[in-house]
Amino acid sequence: MSQIAEQEALRTIAGKDEERFLSAFFVLYKTARLVDKENNNFQYQSDKFYDTIKPLFKKFGSAELKIISSRFFVNELMVRFDGAGLSGANNIIAEWNSLGVGGVCFDAELSKDEADRYFIFMANIKPNSENLDPLSEKLKENSLPSIQLFSKAIEGVDGSILTEEMRRQLRSQARSTFFKAMSVVQEVVVNTQTDSEINISKTKRVVHSLIDQISQDESSLIELAAIKDFDDYTYAHSTNVAVYSLTMGVRLGLDRARLSQLGFSALFHDIGKVKLPTDLINKPDAYDENDWIQMQRHPLLGAKTILRNLKFDIHSARAARGAFEHHINNDFTGYPMLRLEKKETTLFSKIISIVDSFDALTSGRVYLKKSIQPEDVIKKMQYQMKVKFDEFLLKLFNDIIGVYPVGSLVLLTSDEIALVLANNQTDKSRPYIKIVGNKSGILSEPVWTDLSIDENKYRSIVRKIEPEQHRLDIKDFILEN
Ligand SMILES: [Fe+2]
Ligand SMILES: [Fe+2]
Repeated sequence: MSQIAEQEALRTIAGKDEERFLSAFFVLYKTARLVDKENNNFQYQSDKFYDTIKPLFKKFGSAELKIISSRFFVNELMVRFDGAGLSGANNIIAEWNSLGVGGVCFDAELSKDEADRYFIFMANIKPNSENLDPLSEKLKENSLPSIQLFSKAIEGVDGSILTEEMRRQLRSQARSTFFKAMSVVQEVVVNTQTDSEINISKTKRVVHSLIDQISQDESSLIELAAIKDFDDYTYAHSTNVAVYSLTMGVRLGLDRARLSQLGFSALFHDIGKVKLPTDLINKPDAYDENDWIQMQRHPLLGAKTILRNLKFDIHSARAARGAFEHHINNDFTGYPMLRLEKKETTLFSKIISIVDSFDALTSGRVYLKKSIQPEDVIKKMQYQMKVKFDEFLLKLFNDIIGVYPVGSLVLLTSDEIALVLANNQTDKSRPYIKIVGNKSGILSEPVWTDLSIDENKYRSIVRKIEPEQHRLDIKDFILEN
């Protein structure tokens, strides 16, 4: 299943033509800053650029490049980079941000000379010195009629007014990252079971993809974490814990190195369970006392497994501590019981402890064999605050989950049913949604809309609805394209 979903996710990602165009664009953009138009290297790169733009003119009649939420879209298709392309990309993002530029469009009439003059023109602009209007004027003065600049405000860099197509692509990318993370967890589990080598760099890479995704688009991964009935829930649980933990980490402003360690710790928090009998882990009934005694060994088993099977470094050291501490509780009433030294748990353990409880309780698959609605879980957790959880971190997590959690179904005053796609930070009661049904039944084409815009004044959320009561499967709505 994960493979199919991944393939689907890749469909809206740009192909080789768009990648080549963007990479030639970056190189020429940079070259123009260093040398003038007559320079041989400039001419060589310019020829390359002109060659790469032609296939796009043939396909689309124009070549449009936009930056949205720090991602590059060529003719509305998202382009991914490897590490090498990234530095060029980051420079342009920073520069365009300060200029207020959101993108550029080249018409098919573009001549090579006009393209050259555009790159030289951009190279001579001092960042922070202009905004879009005078820039566009200057483009005209320089007689560059086939080139048009876009403002970043109109194009929704803040993510609130993304076009439906672009939002779809961000979600597709999130989906691909999520399933990749799940399959990495699966690989780690299998390798731990068989005591084979664990591929640490692969795990770190997937954590970095999760960080990239969350830094730019908080909601799409959380939406996937809302699916609780994956066949491979054990793997999904660790992925969900990583998604929620990293979302907390990003909101806390942790730097990339710490985020990487946090994500790594979260993915490994339950690795000790691998050493317990599978019958116990998959037991459908409630645990008896003996089961609990067994189960409570997993934090210590986890720490031992990590220290024994992984190379010792800052990642594995922090992960071992996270695995050991994630059920200890804020006041040490949890497990393992510490008799002697009761040292305060680390920030990572406190974060993992909160999001782990949330995911376990909402799934009804881990300890309690009955799922509880997110808002009831938050209430329950607030009741246990201070005893079990850190007060400030729980408040932050509550803010992330919001009034209408991403991935939940809601009933609207218009008698429509919608899936919550993204929280609106300024008004939590009016999120970005996807309308999936109305009085007559499920829509064949869902409608994506933002409840905070004027046009939706007549639509408000009446209440959350539980999908099972209407024989609906939330997964169908979250995973559909
Ligand atoms: Fe656990
Ligand atoms: Fe867990």
